[in-house]
Amino acid sequence: MARQSRIVVLDFGAQYAHLIARRIRQLRVFSEILDPNSSVKALKGAKGIILSGGPASVYEKDAPKFNKKIFSLKIPVLGLCYGHQLMAHALGGKVEKGKVREYGFAELEIKKNAGLFNGLSQKETVWMSHGDKVEELPPGFEAIASTVDCENAAVANEEKKLFGFQFHPEVTHTPHGLKILENFVFGICNCKPDWTIGNYVEKKCCEIKKQVGERNVFLLASGGVDSTVALALLEKALGAERVYSLHVDTGFMRKNESKNVAEALQKLGCSNFHVVNSQQEFFEALRGKIEPEEKRKIIGEKFIEIQNRELRKLNLNPKDWLLGQGTIYPDTIETAGTKNSARIKTHHNRVDSIMELLKANLVVEPLNQLYKDEVRELGIELGLPEEIVWRHPFPGPGLAIRCICSDGKTQDLSAVEEKANAIAKEFGLHAIVLQIKSVGVQGDARSYAHPCALVGKADWKQLEKASTRITNEICEINRVVWLVQPQQLESVELEKAELSEERISLLQEADAIVMQKIREHGLMKEIWQFPTVLLPIKVNGIGESIVLRPVDSTEAMTARFYPMKKEAMEEITSKIMQVQNIGAVFFDITHKPPATIEWE
Ligand code: XMP
Repeated sequence: MARQSRIVVLDFGAQYAHLIARRIRQLRVFSEILDPNSSVKALKGAKGIILSGGPASVYEKDAPKFNKKIFSLKIPVLGLCYGHQLMAHALGGKVEKGKVREYGFAELEIKKNAGLFNGLSQKETVWMSHGDKVEELPPGFEAIASTVDCENAAVANEEKKLFGFQFHPEVTHTPHGLKILENFVFGICNCKPDWTIGNYVEKKCCEIKKQVGERNVFLLASGGVDSTVALALLEKALGAERVYSLHVDTGFMRKNESKNVAEALQKLGCSNFHVVNSQQEFFEALRGKIEPEEKRKIIGEKFIEIQNRELRKLNLNPKDWLLGQGTIYPDTIETAGTKNSARIKTHHNRVDSIMELLKANLVVEPLNQLYKDEVRELGIELGLPEEIVWRHPFPGPGLAIRCICSDGKTQDLSAVEEKANAIAKEFGLHAIVLQIKSVGVQGDARSYAHPCALVGKADWKQLEKASTRITNEICEINRVVWLVQPQQLESVELEKAELSEERISLLQEADAIVMQKIREHGLMKEIWQFPTVLLPIKVNGIGESIVLRPVDSTEAMTARFYPMKKEAMEEITSKIMQVQNIGAVFFDITHKPPATIEWE
């Protein structure tokens, strides 16, 4: 049988290599991420090599080491951003230290629409993010595309099949980036689209067996897509009897969720599946806690405490057990799991004690290089039913991070509100800055700032424009919501509120209405994720407020608010307004960035 095509991605830091590897998989070609210093033997048989971007500068003393022989193996090489500079530098060109970083869109002027640029237009939008740039080309190279600020935006030595781009074809902001990678992979490297998710299953099963050895796996199974797919894969690799899966009912699950999860997993034949009710324990640990990161860390650590306790109860030796988790790749980036990304949020599967276990190689995470849509494809391959595979993503900390708490203290926000109103007025709207905070992501960094509520009639387009202007122009605001009901606004007050059983059950009611209605309207697949959020905000003297947060996304790294059809939105809103103690329903009209999908 012919050998499977393989593209090697050399990882120079940050998260670029993983995204490149994913793009290659999208083209149905096997991709492998390797250390830049890998031996020639490790690269043997590769059809192409891609050098990723990264944060280093070629002149830095501790720039990542790499194997210089890669350029003389007669394997096509594509260097991206740092990889492009590194190749130019290594082959005798000159790289200039950038005085400023250049971020954002640029227009690429293509000189020849052949080879790598086959099928593209003369001008293409590309995404740049770099400091240094290639000033002089190495012998044998020519520029094949430029931008206004970057003469050598794309370079080639056609004879040796060596190529370099200053821009990033792997990010979605480069609209035809995948086409360029396709040209490289098939046109230049002569790969065949012979990779399937079935190959992934085979390979992962071998890796799991190797890592686990004689031991067993204790998996925390929330019942969500990721942990269920991880469970199925681990069972396939090790056999069901060696995987003990525990569902912890934190009290922050959706209405009836734990019961439904238990039934679904039993139906799937997971015989070694157990449920522990830890609601009381979680509520007690979180009483009075307001700051989102503090809540997240307490929850993550509690999971491990409970796991250890269960092991002891079962009289199992912790040495014989690895922790299994359904962590997917985006989870690791948000928690700064890679060298060069800022911490946006601590995901429950990345708290300190889990980081310790990871360092000691005591965690098995068979999905940690995959993105959500790939996990779904894998789930189907493993024979999981559609209703599990197409569940919406649900965060490990559950409704706890959708239930906003407050100590009741207010701040003087009048100056910020005045600025917001100046913009809102242009759209015929009125702005109120809310006295709570939520998490956002701006310039790749975390923000924790106030939401602004807009009141008045407008269509989605107008609301989107108003929201973008407010978050761009007022740094104290990272999120904008629009008041759906009530129509009349007499008062908006902040209430002191903590994470209580009563508040969670109120949120569960509202969330259940949302889930039921979007099923009825056939929107489950169309909407990527639909958090429902509870705010301790009393409108017109009534209890609390609900925020609807439907989003459209593919990789969760970026998202757009989902402009719902009015009919479905009004049906949801009217039903939620009938729930006792709910005084208002808002709709989140912020993209990610500047806001995140979840509020905390
Ligand atoms: P944000 O809110 O950061 O979320 O835009 C991105 C995606 O990650 C999910 N999320 C989590 N998933 N554990 C998880 O398993 C967590 O602690 C966690 N926090 C956020 C979120 O629901 C969204 O899909």
